[in-house]
Amino acid sequence: MPTIDYEAAYKALNTLWNKNGKGSEFTGWVELPLNYDREEFACVQACAERIRSKADAFIIIGIGGSYLGARAAIEMLKSPRHNEEPDGPKIYFLGNGISGEDVAQVLRLVEGKEVFVNVISKSGTTLEPAVAFRIVREYMMKRYGEDGCRERIVATTDKKRGVLKELADRCGYETFVVPDDIGGRYSVLTPVGLLPMAVAGINIKKVLEAAGAAMKSFLRFDEDNPAVRYAAARQALYTGMRKKVEILSYPGESMRFMAEWFKQLYGESEGKEHLGIFPASCELTADLHSLGQYIQDGERMLFETILRFEDSMEKLAVPAAEGDEDKLNYIAGMDYADIYKAAAAGVKKAHITGGVPVIEIVADKADEAGFGELVVFYELACGISGYMEGVNPFDQPGVEEYKKNMFALLGRK
Ligand code: PA5
Repeated sequence: MPTIDYEAAYKALNTLWNKNGKGSEFTGWVELPLNYDREEFACVQACAERIRSKADAFIIIGIGGSYLGARAAIEMLKSPRHNEEPDGPKIYFLGNGISGEDVAQVLRLVEGKEVFVNVISKSGTTLEPAVAFRIVREYMMKRYGEDGCRERIVATTDKKRGVLKELADRCGYETFVVPDDIGGRYSVLTPVGLLPMAVAGINIKKVLEAAGAAMKSFLRFDEDNPAVRYAAARQALYTGMRKKVEILSYPGESMRFMAEWFKQLYGESEGKEHLGIFPASCELTADLHSLGQYIQDGERMLFETILRFEDSMEKLAVPAAEGDEDKLNYIAGMDYADIYKAAAAGVKKAHITGGVPVIEIVADKADEAGFGELVVFYELACGISGYMEGVNPFDQPGVEEYKKNMFALLGRK
């Protein structure tokens, strides 16, 4: 195992906290959970309650940091099958790609239903959500007219700038602000994530309180600080052992979008100047039947981070069966969570034996508090790790390249 440079990690944490590093004008997310705007929070709650009480369908339009955090929270804390649950509006995500099929399908599904829309874009100019919003807005105008749209469309965008802000102000849509000092991928605890979460019925106060407590506990300079430990270990594996890919192994479908959020956060923050660990993911145990072979025996440029929860949200034990025809009575009485624990321990042992270093992250529970803690943990560790790498973890210059080509091909002046 290479030497873990805790001193460098403390220095990076100090730089983040004192706002004297690269991109420090975008580190508002550090103090946000400790000191969020209570007045704005109340407006988000009120808006969400209004939508929740009136809407049958809620369309969220956004991409990247303007979408992944909310979806991660809703799938982790409600369910990936949230739309089959009886309470609250059906929630649809659009504008996170370029697919006419997706937009047309959602518009078919919401026909005849009471529809509300939240369009989210900090810049207000991102093509994918902008195109989806133009089509959805036209649909809304036809159904509800201007006054009806005013009641049903909410825009989350920059405080002053951008075409979305101008359009929302001109049309009188309710607006929420993406703070100037918080970039998209660090914005899940602003109205970007909070409004969709609250509409889905998530207790956002609990999320923020847990996030605040976690941030307080992670702002300390010792080796037991999990954010420091994780960031320092990643960098040691990268620089000391040339491990270039991190696989986040996560427990099941409900955490799939949390892994997507993680990949965006780390990929956009660290992948620059021809440096950085490539963030990948593996769903336990589904992907062990696909990626598992490569992880165990393929090229040794990987390390793995296994995420698990100490406590499960649902208790479901394997029943004893008379006759034991399927030969499973040896695990009769065991809860799914116990089986998962054994599987995760087995995976860890096998992968270490196969030459894949493993970091383990153990969170308490997949509830509101657990989500708030995980968000703060990953964000802070990402900032520390990015500064240790020497890059600016808060810009994303590489994302512009495809946009330039696309706009030129589309004939934008
Ligand atoms: O992290 C980021 O800044 C990006 O992923 C953005 O969130 C994404 O590109 C969407 O940008 P916008 O909110 O301006 O539409």
